[in-house]
Amino acid sequence: MDIDIDEIIERYPGKPEYLIFLMQDIQAAFNYISPEALTLVCDHTGVPESQAYAVATFYGSFSLEPKGENMVQVCLGTACHLKGSGLIAENLMRSIGLEEPGTTEDLKFTVETVNCLGACALAPVAVVNGDYQPKVTSPKLMKKVSKLGSE
Ligand code: FES
Repeated sequence: MDIDIDEIIERYPGKPEYLIFLMQDIQAAFNYISPEALTLVCDHTGVPESQAYAVATFYGSFSLEPKGENMVQVCLGTACHLKGSGLIAENLMRSIGLEEPGTTEDLKFTVETVNCLGACALAPVAVVNGDYQPKVTSPKLMKKVSKLGSE
């Protein structure tokens, strides 16, 4: 990836109140915050690493692990599960080489399973890069995902 971390860090004055802005920009640029990036941010803002780490783990929008370019969430909540979402999730993971939810080695995809997406009437539901896929089926989801994989 061709983004310069120093350029991001220099966007903000070296003060503790800019910690979250910096973390948001790094998350947006790299899709995650690496340990090296977190150290640079702490050096710049003067925030102790333990505190920055606590912030990173508290907010769901930050990730300390690399995430894929594409995010697929499959709902395994009760309504979706009853309509077969467990098998849909398994088929999807198998097709992209994952044994369990996580990120593919080529960083193309991250698959997460969630407990309810708040759209139970549309079960089974998956979300691909923020787009809800109502009444999803394995073929539909795999078609969508293989299209993204070839982009
Ligand atoms: S259980 Fe899947 S959206 Fe609610």
